[in-house]
Amino acid sequence: MTQHDRILILDFGSQVTQLIARRLRETGVYCEVWPYNAAAPERIRAFSPRGIIFSGGPASVTEGESPRAPAEVFDMGLPILGICYGQQTLAAQLGGTVEGGHAAEFGRAVVTVTGECALTQGLWAKGNKETVWMSHGDRITVLPAGFRVVAESEGAPFALIADESRHYYGTMFHPEVVHTPHGAALLKNFTHGVCGCTGDWTMAGFRAEAIARIRAQVGQGRVICGLSGGVDSSVAAVLLHEAVGDQLTCIYVDHGLMRAGESEQVVKTFRDRFNITLVHRDASDLFLGQLSGVTDPEQKRKIIGRLFIEVFEEEQNKLGGADFLAQGTLYPDVIESVSATGGPSVTIKSHHNVGGLPEGMRMKLVEPLRELFKDEVRVLGRELGMPEEIVGRHPFPGPGLAIRIPGEVTREKADLLRKVDTVYLEEIRNAGLYDAIWQAFAVLLPVRTVGVMGDGRTYDMACALRAVTSTDGMTAEFYPFDMGFLGRVANRIVNEVRGVNRVTYDITSKPPGTIEWE
Ligand code: XMP
Repeated sequence: MTQHDRILILDFGSQVTQLIARRLRETGVYCEVWPYNAAAPERIRAFSPRGIIFSGGPASVTEGESPRAPAEVFDMGLPILGICYGQQTLAAQLGGTVEGGHAAEFGRAVVTVTGECALTQGLWAKGNKETVWMSHGDRITVLPAGFRVVAESEGAPFALIADESRHYYGTMFHPEVVHTPHGAALLKNFTHGVCGCTGDWTMAGFRAEAIARIRAQVGQGRVICGLSGGVDSSVAAVLLHEAVGDQLTCIYVDHGLMRAGESEQVVKTFRDRFNITLVHRDASDLFLGQLSGVTDPEQKRKIIGRLFIEVFEEEQNKLGGADFLAQGTLYPDVIESVSATGGPSVTIKSHHNVGGLPEGMRMKLVEPLRELFKDEVRVLGRELGMPEEIVGRHPFPGPGLAIRIPGEVTREKADLLRKVDTVYLEEIRNAGLYDAIWQAFAVLLPVRTVGVMGDGRTYDMACALRAVTSTDGMTAEFYPFDMGFLGRVANRIVNEVRGVNRVTYDITSKPPGTIEWE
């Protein structure tokens, strides 16, 4: 565990709990998110946080069985900040009264600052009106002893409360979302000002500690790392190599469904630039052979997932096995979050890039990125001197182009799609839009359309272009390119890619669409 100032976030099931952690990490504070019901007092003491934050949550403290923080946290002498449901349970557990039945308040709200406290210092002055983001139904009606009001709104008379003798604070609003303009700064006032954190969590520090941890775990053992060409496995590989050098071998299973030039780039970057021992297995014949005649999207995924495992195992056996398997698992994949019902059940997501890992593999796992969020992995990659083409790359699905070719996948279709995709992404980069977009790609449609080129009639394939913005891939908005840009791209594709004579742009958001077409 990292030896830094730490804050513990107790999760009561809010959709935005992870954002609290994001905001804290951005100011150099190491923090962890635990389900409220997994926070045994002795575990909290061992973690030794400088302060505790109670997240929001969907439950109502007016219900008998609703979640509560462990009573012992109030005996630890630690600063506490309760947010939304967290504020209500804080108040209820300290003897205040919370009532339901008030008009629910959702979204943007304006509060009037009526007092001062350490949280608002340098940010909110008495008498000012400030914008915040609310999302609640219940409200506190009687404050616990020792508390006073610092900000109020019509719908939330106790929008911000404080008991500064005990260093307890509560907000009815969500400071962790960007819609609360001073939210991040309010949180920083809590962590740095009230809790005394120094902001000592830096990527340079993380790099050094992660290397020491990997060395301690791996010893003289051999490590295998599956490379996908994506950001996570790439950064994990370079970090591991820095830690254990030649004890690491990377296996890159090339299914023949990558974008143009990507396999070459993986080989060049890892083998030539970073001197990492890399097995590049070109298994495109095998994958495309088994995909022949298959049109169902789930079937495609299953076939690719199964073959990936088979080929990976084959290569690993050729190497004579290893003691450790490295994975680019990230913090969002390991956070146990309270389920949406607020009940005691927890959901643990496990992440596999392609369909799962061989069962019965007797290697131990090394997961050097499991404390990091995606954008922190990118920062680490830059810290390790990795090229921007890899570190800043858009997400790419494990099954690759197979799920961007509705209908049967053939080598010819994959080649055609690669050409379309190359032109599209080149134009996006030239327009300086690559980093503003979460994911952009082309889809080869299983239809032929009539066109006219020169004096001749064409009867060729149609394609769709897709570009979305998103923060986590769970929801997405189509990217609003200007028509001039789209016209330019369409023109280039039809002129440069023989076999495609029509271009469409997908303007579906998620939901109801998904990002990929299959
Ligand atoms: P959807 O299409 O579900 O995609 O909106 C959300 C994100 O997940 C990626 N995706 C996949 N990634 N294996 C993966 O590794 C898959 O089978 C898969 N399907 C979708 C997609 O590219 C997007 O980033």
